[in-house]
Amino acid sequence: LNLAILISGRGSNMEALLKAAAAPDYPAKPVLVLANRPDAKGLETAMDAGISALAIDHKPFGKDREAFERAMDQALTEAGTEIIALAGFMRVLTPWFVNKWQGRMINIHPSLLPKYKGLDTHQRAIDAGDAEAGATVHWVSPGVDDGEIIQQASLPILPGDTADSLAARLLPIEHQLYPDALAKACAAIKVRR
Ligand code: GRF
Repeated sequence: LNLAILISGRGSNMEALLKAAAAPDYPAKPVLVLANRPDAKGLETAMDAGISALAIDHKPFGKDREAFERAMDQALTEAGTEIIALAGFMRVLTPWFVNKWQGRMINIHPSLLPKYKGLDTHQRAIDAGDAEAGATVHWVSPGVDDGEIIQQASLPILPGDTADSLAARLLPIEHQLYPDALAKACAAIKVRR
């Protein structure tokens, strides 16, 4: 399936997806990396990997989220996108966009959903005294971080862990999880067809 990856920053999960997709038998083929911030580091990484990379800055659209999303939607459609992976994409999407791509859009979130939707997931897990933390790949539905879970990976929270140390240990786990979960999502879409 033709894959578009939406990012806002560093793009390390995007990079993990691009690496996995370089294998000839991987079920997704990256056709576009799209960022809502022109300075997103991941855009360079994508271009270096020979993938079309495009910034659509959300700022000129002001409060008109749908106008921004219509611009994204047009770029996605022109690229022949069949599945979207959100990878550190930090804009909340409107129901219009989510409904349009529902069943064809997935996200990675750094918590063991349904725990800790939204931001500051690591600190919240530490503050709660949880024994473990983790990451979840899920289908995107209109509620934030609320869709059906595809796959999760966990790790223990260690004594003395900070949000930063936990995030650093979780990141390589995310990089393994996301390509696996994306392959599962592709299989689910193919079955549905
Ligand atoms: C990751 O922790 C991801 O789970 C969350 O945002 C972070 C993005 O990092 N949604 P990167 O841009 O993929 O490096």
